Amino acid sequence: MTGGITRRRLLAATALGGSALTAGGWALAGGSLTPGQPGLLLRSQTPLPQPYAVPLPVPPVLTPTRPGDTTDVYEIVQKPARLRILAGLETTAWTYGGTFPGPTLVSRSGRRTVVRHRNELPHPTVVHLHGGHTPDGSDGYPTALILPRDGTAHHSDGMAGMPGMPEASGARDHASVGRTYTYPMEQRASTLWYHDHRMGFTGPNVWHGLAGFHLVHDDEEEALPLPRRERDIPLMIADRAFAADGSFRYPALDTAQRTPGVTDPYMDGVLGDVLLVNGAPWPVLETQRLRYRLRLLNASNARRYRLALEPPPPGGDGLVQIGGDGGLLERPLAHDTLDIAPAERFDVIVDFSRYRPGTRVRLVNRLGSGSTANVMRFDISTGRPPADDSRIPDRLSTIPTPRPERAATTRTFHFQRQAGAGGWTINGRPYEPGRPLATVRLGTTELWRFVTDFHHPVHVHLDHFQVTARNGRSPGPYDAGWKDTVDLRPAESVEILTRFTDYPGRFMLHCHNLEHEDMAMMADFVTE
Ligand code: C2O
Ligand code: CU
Ligand code: CU
Repeated sequence: MTGGITRRRLLAATALGGSALTAGGWALAGGSLTPGQPGLLLRSQTPLPQPYAVPLPVPPVLTPTRPGDTTDVYEIVQKPARLRILAGLETTAWTYGGTFPGPTLVSRSGRRTVVRHRNELPHPTVVHLHGGHTPDGSDGYPTALILPRDGTAHHSDGMAGMPGMPEASGARDHASVGRTYTYPMEQRASTLWYHDHRMGFTGPNVWHGLAGFHLVHDDEEEALPLPRRERDIPLMIADRAFAADGSFRYPALDTAQRTPGVTDPYMDGVLGDVLLVNGAPWPVLETQRLRYRLRLLNASNARRYRLALEPPPPGGDGLVQIGGDGGLLERPLAHDTLDIAPAERFDVIVDFSRYRPGTRVRLVNRLGSGSTANVMRFDISTGRPPADDSRIPDRLSTIPTPRPERAATTRTFHFQRQAGAGGWTINGRPYEPGRPLATVRLGTTELWRFVTDFHHPVHVHLDHFQVTARNGRSPGPYDAGWKDTVDLRPAESVEILTRFTDYPGRFMLHCHNLEHEDMAMMADFVTE
């Protein structure tokens, strides 16, 4: 516990004192907080790009290098790439395979997916499949590093100053040059994503581009008459800020990645002023007057969104949710607005035939202002569409009714800022690899209660869960179905019912505000 971070955080937290936490919520001395929004806006030093000037990119689907009988093998090289995100400027991103978002992987439920990663970035990385039901050896434990090809010395430097980090020599056993992740994919159809998970540096790594989609298909979902192919589109929403030369701007304490965390004003979270969808600023998708399936992912470090269609279709209820983090809901759920916290996914159907030909429909963000109030636009064609072969069935899937009274164990996790404890903590403890906060028996049902002081999107690895209560009442409108991340606002409490299955080992729960995560709001739990 000797590094700069602990000291800095101690000082920062002490300076704010207990008065920073007020009865009704959170006030930060000197910082400009947007209501409903964690964090501080980092402004771009470039002129902002014109909205609705570029077409929506759709990330390429990765083809296996070796399709086998029961296993598909993929290879991804993590490397810097010069991207054209802003007109006339180049942005050097840290990418999976040269693109941002990375290529989309598509798996079949029950068919093993093996992904070999090689790291040609200048610093170590870790890959996590978010929402994957994955054995611990492939789950992206935050110290199970993939070393850069020529960066071993840099790697051991990187151990210094990280609270609880094992000695460099011990950590080296974990690390390897290149790493193979094996995903059994014994799980339902769902919209998953993969992203960096390196201890202390997930925030900068994802901000610079290390994120992509990983979709799982199964027979149940394929039997439904939902929109497919070019009308089934993943949308990765992420805010970023840019420096004058076009590079990503991020307030890291140490760009050489030896000391984790961001400068003190950004400790609540880093917000950007440019909204990207699939890596493009405020893009446009030309649509036909047909139903589309949009797989919404909030891949932002800290920003929450309240998404809505503008104008709404006549009669409202324009966003019909069919799925969440863990796949299909039991029944479709219509929304006018959709609150989406970091790492959450909402799978929605939008029926553009409810609009007149030629309508331009904006996807807006009601929690944003100025440049961050708009996300993208759908330009509906004036042409006559083909007959729509899709529909939204009344019943999508079967989800077991949660029975909280059958929980064998109840545990409470407090997500809070803690003076003197290194920043953001769970139950008063900053993350320490190898020190579990819970040991759970595989196959038994547990009730976990999360309690917050601030905005904390709480994520649990290994298995999806169901939300059974919010603030002592029924779950909220965005809590339906199987989830792996739940959005908690200041001073809330949420109860989830979970049952961990199949894989004994060491997994994590953490806040998915990546600045909070990097500044220690993470914990191990052990399954046995
Ligand atoms: Cu999406 Cu442990 O993270
Ligand atoms: Cu995860
Ligand atoms: Cu948090």
